[in-house]
Amino acid sequence: MLLLRRAMADDVPFLVSTDLLVDLQDETDDTSRSAPAYAEGWGEHERAEHRAKIAAYVDDADKGAWVYEDTERMRNVGLIMCWFRDRRREPRTAATDFLFRFIDESVLPPDGCFCEVFQLWVDPAYRRRGLASALKRQVEDESRQRGIGMIYTHTRERNAHVVELNRKLGYVEVRRGPMWDDVARVSLVKWLMM
Ligand SMILES: CC(C)(COP(=O)(O)OP(=O)(O)OC[C@H]1O[C@@H](n2cnc3c(N)ncnc32)[C@H](O)[C@@H]1OP(=O)(O)O)[C@@H](O)C(=O)NCCC(=O)NCCS
Repeated sequence: MLLLRRAMADDVPFLVSTDLLVDLQDETDDTSRSAPAYAEGWGEHERAEHRAKIAAYVDDADKGAWVYEDTERMRNVGLIMCWFRDRRREPRTAATDFLFRFIDESVLPPDGCFCEVFQLWVDPAYRRRGLASALKRQVEDESRQRGIGMIYTHTRERNAHVVELNRKLGYVEVRRGPMWDDVARVSLVKWLMM
């Protein structure tokens, strides 16, 4: 059985290694590379910092993480991580301002509350079965429960299938072009019916 559930402390190693894997494969176009190889150049401090950043998606009240578990095989086969933000109340730091170096704040709802998707991944053996769509709908449900009316996400322009996945779920494009590097990215938002 495939079970969609909230991520727990025990899931953090899976979240950490998958986050590294997705970023590595995205950057290198090499889906055979493994996460540990990517992190080989990292020192203890960088590993601990990355682990803490990912664990926050499980621990912090303004973040959320869900996994798909194949209960028969007792392994996780999908994940989504997101950040529930309140632009009017959150502290202004390099981390909270980062997105707004590229995105105009006018795309946000008037109350400044929105959900930012941080990571989405489904095991290759389980793809095209609607798992990613269900994970994204889970984030929509949680956002509505928190009174949040908009979800923001971005992906590389060349990931046309991810753009299509989002379009099917009702996302609309709000920006296209390079952000923090020279890679063209597509920014999309979905307005939620409350
Ligand atoms: C992108 C990803 C999360 C999609 O997961 P998934 O569970 O296969 O997605 P879904 O089954 O919910 O797909 C929904 C729709 O999106 C589109 N889609 C998804 N993957 C596609 C693909 N490889 N090719 C074409 N269309 C695709 C289709 O329209 C699909 O509907 P359909 O199957 O009825 O045609 C998965 O491929 C993945 O983990 N990729 C690597 C990590 C990644 O790119 N994450 C996103 C970073 S922004």
